[in-house]
Amino acid sequence: MPPVEGGARESGAEGGAPLTFKNTFAGRDIVSCRDLSREDAELVFSLTDGVVSNSVRLEGSLRGKKVALIFVEPSTRTFQSFYVAARSLGAEVLSIHDPEISSIAKGETLYDTVKMIEGYGADCIVLRHPARGAARFAAETASIPIINAGSGSQEHPTQALLDCYTIKSKIGRIDGVRIGMLGDLRFSRTIPSLCYLLSRYSGVKIFFIAPPLLQVRREVELYLSERGVELRRVAETDEIREVMPELDVLYVTRIQKERFPDPTEYERVKGSYVVDAKLLSYARSSLGVMHPLPRVDELSPEVDRLSNAWYFEQARNGLPLRKSLLYLVLGEAG
Ligand code: NCD
Repeated sequence: MPPVEGGARESGAEGGAPLTFKNTFAGRDIVSCRDLSREDAELVFSLTDGVVSNSVRLEGSLRGKKVALIFVEPSTRTFQSFYVAARSLGAEVLSIHDPEISSIAKGETLYDTVKMIEGYGADCIVLRHPARGAARFAAETASIPIINAGSGSQEHPTQALLDCYTIKSKIGRIDGVRIGMLGDLRFSRTIPSLCYLLSRYSGVKIFFIAPPLLQVRREVELYLSERGVELRRVAETDEIREVMPELDVLYVTRIQKERFPDPTEYERVKGSYVVDAKLLSYARSSLGVMHPLPRVDELSPEVDRLSNAWYFEQARNGLPLRKSLLYLVLGEAG
């Protein structure tokens, strides 16, 4: 892949050799993990490995580019990691982070916001929006790439990439992984994206651990079944203890209070499960606990001191992974 201006290179004498590989991401929208192949994911992972180990240097490679961050929903990790990633690659950042102080508060449409940001010369837009379909709509509207940073309860593909990257870097593989997904599987957008990406790997087994009201959506389950992913639904506490020893990873999610159509339903399921040291005592010692964060009360802070706690490392991986992704999307095809 020819380096973009500023030159992403392997580290080493004389700044190292320019990177050479086929860039399947150049100019592409990242809207759904349904659009990503195993090869796509592996390309991002190998570049991220290079960034993490310092064998690849991307600093300055996006000089002269403009990355727009439009966040119409609260965010800590996703916004900050995209911001720091874009800046450290040398890009300029345009951002709408507080919709209350932009024209969105006056009723400006997503169409108009996207068109206007494009008009200011943005080279790509990272979009977080409460509506399902918002990222796809923006991608159809804009002529520059759209990176979905969360579209309602629908998808969160860059989170799934960093989740799978974390699994691969901790276990050494994704094929054959046995993962329990626990909590709000119905309204969480990280769950569908993670499921779609995991379906690209072979021998994966997923345990959906949630009360019936929060079980995974039919469309997700269907997609996985059609691709031969082994699934099991688990609800009862006894059954959770029984499956714990089978798991390599336990992926915990927050109950998405803000997405419940009916607050009384939320009251019925809040606090359904808590992952604590007692529950983990049923698991293998190597089990990794993941969480996209923020957590509320579903993951006890007592887990933080255990070697099972992977979630802070998982969050940290967001930075090198998003650097790699921005580099690829804004780079040349090679
Ligand atoms: C998640 C999100 O926004 O979907 N957070 C994140 O991006 N790391 C999870 C959540 O809000 O529960």
